[in-house]
Amino acid sequence: MNYTSIKDIDSLSEWVKEALKIKKNPLKHKKLGKNKTLGMLFFNPSLRTRLSTQKAALNLGMNVMVMNFTNEGWTLEFEDGAIMNSGASEHIKEAAAVVSQYCDIIAIRAFAGLVDKEKDNAETVLAGFMKYATVPIVNMEGCTGHPLQSLADAITMEEHKTKHRPKVVLTWAPHPRALPQAVPNSFVEMMQKQENMDFVITHPEGYELNPEITKDSKIEYDQNKAFENADFIYAKNWSNYNDYGKITNSDPNWTVSADKMKLTNNAKFMHCLPVRRNVIVTDEVIDSENSIVIEQANNRTYSAQLVLQKILKKIE
Ligand code: CP
Repeated sequence: MNYTSIKDIDSLSEWVKEALKIKKNPLKHKKLGKNKTLGMLFFNPSLRTRLSTQKAALNLGMNVMVMNFTNEGWTLEFEDGAIMNSGASEHIKEAAAVVSQYCDIIAIRAFAGLVDKEKDNAETVLAGFMKYATVPIVNMEGCTGHPLQSLADAITMEEHKTKHRPKVVLTWAPHPRALPQAVPNSFVEMMQKQENMDFVITHPEGYELNPEITKDSKIEYDQNKAFENADFIYAKNWSNYNDYGKITNSDPNWTVSADKMKLTNNAKFMHCLPVRRNVIVTDEVIDSENSIVIEQANNRTYSAQLVLQKILKKIE
């Protein structure tokens, strides 16, 4: 069993229920991971994913090995048949097979380069490990998805919803750097699995996400209109998917402000973090009682623990 995409969740409502059970008693399965090792390979920086996934593994009694691949590992070649007479020192074929001998589960973070859309959509690093590793793979944020984050988001919304069918708005917000689409992609995929939520995506025209992911999700280009009566506002920046990886809009009018939050139904504010204060969201909103970003980050532990627990049960 791998966990590389929201598609790997068979029943979101059941998974959320199970995660909330784990949250009540996180050490209940302390023996499940005894003598099992989680290898965490980072090709990009992290705070929450690194620490919450490690904590989840420790809660299950696992050993954990962490490697910052970019500055500690050999540069990897991913192309089959490559003549490796320059650049990369090691082929993914050996690297994945070798790491599989040391670890029972391999978790990988490898962001989009945002230069070559086709290459990013192919998830070169993640797919390379999936092809050549002989143990389960967990996606700690790839080029096109961040399924541990979105599972944590689903857990958080379940805890904070106050009505049967809440309105959830995913809003684009400005950012000075070009960011990948991984978080919003997985959030959209997770929302499509929600049975009782009214979901709207709002972003400037031209900032459409991959239509193969958004499918028939509702898009409202007027942010104020989208915010009306919302119960959850989920803010995130992403770079342009059509004009791939470019920043074609940095309009500060899209920043989530107290005035915008007034349009909502006293909505909870969510963001995956890290967040640029007073760019994505004003201090007033993120510091308000309605901001649940810290609880959201806490739930990263339980989403990771649920995933690791499910995999450990399969490989027992
Ligand atoms: N939300 C999230 O994945 O945080 P990190 O990038 O700090 O891991």
